[in-house]
Amino acid sequence: MAEFDLVVAGGEVITASDRARCDVGVKDGRITALAEGLTGAARTIDAAGLWVLPGGVDSHVHIAQPSGPGITMADDFASATAAAACGGNTTVMPFALQERGHGLRETVEAYHAKAKGNCRIDVSFHLIISDATPAVLGQELPALVKAGYTSFKVFMTYDDLVLDDRSLLEVMDVARRERALVMVHAEGYDSLKFMTERLEAEGKTAPYWHGPSRPDVIEREATHRAVSHAQLVGTPLMVVHVSSRAAMEQIQWAKAQGLPVFAETCPQYLTLTADDLRGLEMDMTGAKYVCSPPPRTTDDQAAIWAGIEQGVFTTFSSDHAPFRYDDVEGKLNPKARTSFRWVPNGLPGIETRLPIFFSEGVSKGRISPEQFVALTATNHARMYGLYPKKGTIAVGADADLTLWDPHRRETIRQEILHHGADYTPWEGFAVTGWPVVTIARGEVVAEAGRLTGTPGHGTHLARGVSSALRAGA
Ligand code: URP
Ligand code: ZN
Ligand code: ZN
Repeated sequence: MAEFDLVVAGGEVITASDRARCDVGVKDGRITALAEGLTGAARTIDAAGLWVLPGGVDSHVHIAQPSGPGITMADDFASATAAAACGGNTTVMPFALQERGHGLRETVEAYHAKAKGNCRIDVSFHLIISDATPAVLGQELPALVKAGYTSFKVFMTYDDLVLDDRSLLEVMDVARRERALVMVHAEGYDSLKFMTERLEAEGKTAPYWHGPSRPDVIEREATHRAVSHAQLVGTPLMVVHVSSRAAMEQIQWAKAQGLPVFAETCPQYLTLTADDLRGLEMDMTGAKYVCSPPPRTTDDQAAIWAGIEQGVFTTFSSDHAPFRYDDVEGKLNPKARTSFRWVPNGLPGIETRLPIFFSEGVSKGRISPEQFVALTATNHARMYGLYPKKGTIAVGADADLTLWDPHRRETIRQEILHHGADYTPWEGFAVTGWPVVTIARGEVVAEAGRLTGTPGHGTHLARGVSSALRAGA
């Protein structure tokens, strides 16, 4: 019997801390050797000229989530994990969203049923808590944390999801007691509603006005409030999809106080601006870029880049929340034409996160390859209790690898993508650096933009405690 099922030979292996030219030996889905000149493999992949990176871990994606009456998300677990694999990812972390009136356990079971047998790469669910009842806080949440759902997201806005301040505090307190990580969507419900109604009263209803309805002031205030709540309770906090200088400054302030506050940002906040929502002369095409928080200014982009370079941000995720554009169940649903408030929020980005960030970050000299790996894989695994099984290249870790061509030039186009959306916000965006082979637990799941694995190869991962909650972290 061969010593290895697979050897990836001759590539430049890069982790969050090191790089070395060596082979990677894989047996039974795990890395069993890192050395030069490995032989005795059933299959050898020649990685000469390529970088061998830990497979991408995207810790913020939405898949098959209910999104309001008549609205359907464009991806199920099959298409989302296919797109993720082709984009160089080997683990994604979607949300199991609790709808009000429903329990958390039944929610989780429903998402497992959607995912089962359909995933090409590994998945692990965060929870979304929208109904913080005594049963949820007292029984369901503690039990689910013990079962490996060690992170949950809370929302400070959206009619169906918003938690009031008291509930935010209660949920954070359960997180503290049970050692789970709270992720927060920091935009303030009342201020946003006030702005929305004012704009609508002025007849400002095109998708473009989505941005002005939720200016950075609103994100800044909510970020500070969430940080204050977490400080009061004494628990770490992950502020997701930070979009603005103003919100980022709140995180810097928190860090300067020594608070365990962490931040995530996404491709849309580095590459899109409020002007993209204008579409073609304020028409509905701006709906393609409607997400929350909204893309902001070039000054905000520069601030976020500076934050990335200086270590303010721990993770770089896609916040993949795909809707079809030309579809009555998507961006062009009938109500969306009456006001921006009815345009489904979110962008498809699961397949383009890594190339965009690599190109704008590494190829343009803003970040090192090691920082790229940390921000797109290792830190996600650490923050969400998957390390060192995921997010690194080490003996004993899962053989999750992305063979990356750092010089390959590509132009992002809808026609080469695998997601369920009918557009990409980055149509025509030129990148340097592209994933050429994705290996998930030792199986080649994507190669040269083609799917090679099987649905069902991906499994659900129960998680441990976040590094943010470990002593000395
Ligand atoms: O617009 C966005 N980001 N949609 C996805 C849901 C969320 O808040 O992350
Ligand atoms: Zn959010
Ligand atoms: Zn999201």
